[in-house]
Amino acid sequence: MKAELNKIYNMGCVEGMKFIPDNTIDLVITDPPFAIEFKAKRSNYNRTEANVLEGYREIPKKQYYDFTVQWMKQVYRILNDSGSMYIFSGWNNLKDILVAIDELGFITVNHIIWKYQFGVVTKRKFVTSHYHCLYVCKNDEKRKFFPYERFEKNLRDVCGRSLHYEDKEDVWYIKREYWNGDQKTPTKLPAELIRKILTYSSKENDAVLDPFLGSGQVAVVSRMMHRRYIGFEVVKEYYEFAKERLEKNTYRIKEKKKNYFEEGDLFCNLKG
Ligand SMILES: C[S@@+](CC[C@H](N)C(=O)[O-])C[C@H]1O[C@@H](n2cnc3c(N)ncnc32)[C@H](O)[C@@H]1O
Repeated sequence: MKAELNKIYNMGCVEGMKFIPDNTIDLVITDPPFAIEFKAKRSNYNRTEANVLEGYREIPKKQYYDFTVQWMKQVYRILNDSGSMYIFSGWNNLKDILVAIDELGFITVNHIIWKYQFGVVTKRKFVTSHYHCLYVCKNDEKRKFFPYERFEKNLRDVCGRSLHYEDKEDVWYIKREYWNGDQKTPTKLPAELIRKILTYSSKENDAVLDPFLGSGQVAVVSRMMHRRYIGFEVVKEYYEFAKERLEKNTYRIKEKKKNYFEEGDLFCNLKG
């Protein structure tokens, strides 16, 4: 079997990526399981419970490093020399991700912080309200990066600050999306985050992979931005949710299956 672009697969990504030929992927954007014994139960959420899809495959902490090496090894093989990968991680098991990146020979380009609007309230410690995002590549000379694709070189804000400079700082303030009344998975990346990465590190028709699709955000936004997508999700319910979104060309799926796409959510920061 050869895995095809513009398709997603209901299978484990380590097995699945073996069906992708060497050096054929231009960009990987991914948010692997956390290994924090995360349980996606409907009742965990202060949301309309029935809308949150159950499932979510966790990785036991003891196996996390080996698992990380296994999936990253496949990514290293299938990524183009001009390609790059953005890996999201919480702080808990970040060290395993960092060590695996070095071990496999990836070059770290940036360590980005994604700051979201608020986290879970705590009493005895500080509130976690950020994620790490490791931007890595195989070949730093050939790596694609389009610095003025979102903001032209001379554009300034009302205070005279350079817009492309501000956009390229490595702390990104991007809000999480709340899909009230719609079907959802418990952990999804906001479309704006994916769109930013796609704009800086890919062009139309490039092949974009997410080995851990979840709700399918990376594939859905890649498709909207005319990239080719491919991805894997081991939980059937999530895979089917992502597939439905892709097949119906729909961003959010309403509870009563009334589909609509909220342009405002996605295209609030488009280049002027
Ligand atoms: C943090 S979530 C990804 C969320 C996704 N970025 C989104 O925006 O919806 C990680 C996902 O990886 C899935 N997963 C766990 N082990 C996997 C494996 N071996 N292969 C593919 N998917 C896996 C989990 O079920 C979960 O949906």
